Amino acid sequence: MTVVSRGEGLVEGKVALVTGAGSGIGRATALLLAQEGASAVVVCDIDADAAQATAEEVLAIGAAALGVGTDVGNRSQVDALLRSAVDHFGRVDCAVNNAGVRGRSALLVDYTDEDWRSVMQVNLDGVFYCLRAELQVMRGQGGGAIVNVSSGTTAGPRAELGAYVSSKFGVLGLSRVAAAESARDGIRVNAVLPGSTRTPMMDEYLAGLPGAEAVAVKLAGMPQGRLGDPAEIAEVIVWLCSARASFVNAVSLLADGGIHSFSFRPASN
Ligand SMILES: NC(=O)c1ccc[n+]([C@@H]2O[C@H](COP(=O)([O-])OP(=O)(O)OC[C@H]3O[C@@H](n4cnc5c(N)ncnc54)[C@H](O)[C@@H]3O)[C@@H](O)[C@H]2O)c1
Repeated sequence: MTVVSRGEGLVEGKVALVTGAGSGIGRATALLLAQEGASAVVVCDIDADAAQATAEEVLAIGAAALGVGTDVGNRSQVDALLRSAVDHFGRVDCAVNNAGVRGRSALLVDYTDEDWRSVMQVNLDGVFYCLRAELQVMRGQGGGAIVNVSSGTTAGPRAELGAYVSSKFGVLGLSRVAAAESARDGIRVNAVLPGSTRTPMMDEYLAGLPGAEAVAVKLAGMPQGRLGDPAEIAEVIVWLCSARASFVNAVSLLADGGIHSFSFRPASN
């Protein structure tokens, strides 16, 4: 069975959609999709200017692009996003539900309802709204591939991120149920679990650590001695979108340099 011909990009001719693509992992994914031959990339972000900036980078690579300001936590905006994608490009072959927020660091006993809801609305309601609208389009066209961005924190939950970690566990549940319901429709649904990756979200976290020493300890604790690069996470996402991953379904794929899979201690000098 030939899944990708020699010399072709991984997603040659496909129409792709990426949420939260104005920054970080989403932006890197949109650019890699264009580099790997996507005919069009729909670039969504709540920050419309950031979405437009990434869309222009996609255009410069040579794919068609549509930058859209969409709040994934708003159902009617998400439905309009998918309608717009289909109106412009006729179909959506690959969808990457990446938009997410970290929320405030606090113990659960100190959480406000707003702390909880604000994270759930984007990270879990948002993935549900996108997934539902994407599945409707993909069923109608006879197939597709969806990648939901969860988090390595589900493999090693830590204190003070209750809403974030819970929302990312929810993304894993949604992904597997969607995969089970859609396999016979030619739709694969997988989840990627990034470890600590150098993006604005991670910079904000590092800035909140108590001093340079705490940052150094965090970096020293990474098995490869460094954070991940958004482009490294994008590679995994785009591969899962592609026909190269045609028999990969419902997986929760860690891309974390190994930190959640073994007990790592930096060698002492
Ligand atoms: N960076 C990491 O270390 C890391 C680790 C694990 C998981 N993740 C996950 O990867 C995804 C991307 O994170 P990142 O690190 O690239 O963060 P980032 O902050 O750089 O990018 C997130 C993007 O999502 C957009 N966004 C936020 N709320 C939105 C909404 N309601 N609707 C549409 N867009 C919205 C933001 O404007 C931003 O452009 C997130 O789901 C995050 O939880 C990141």
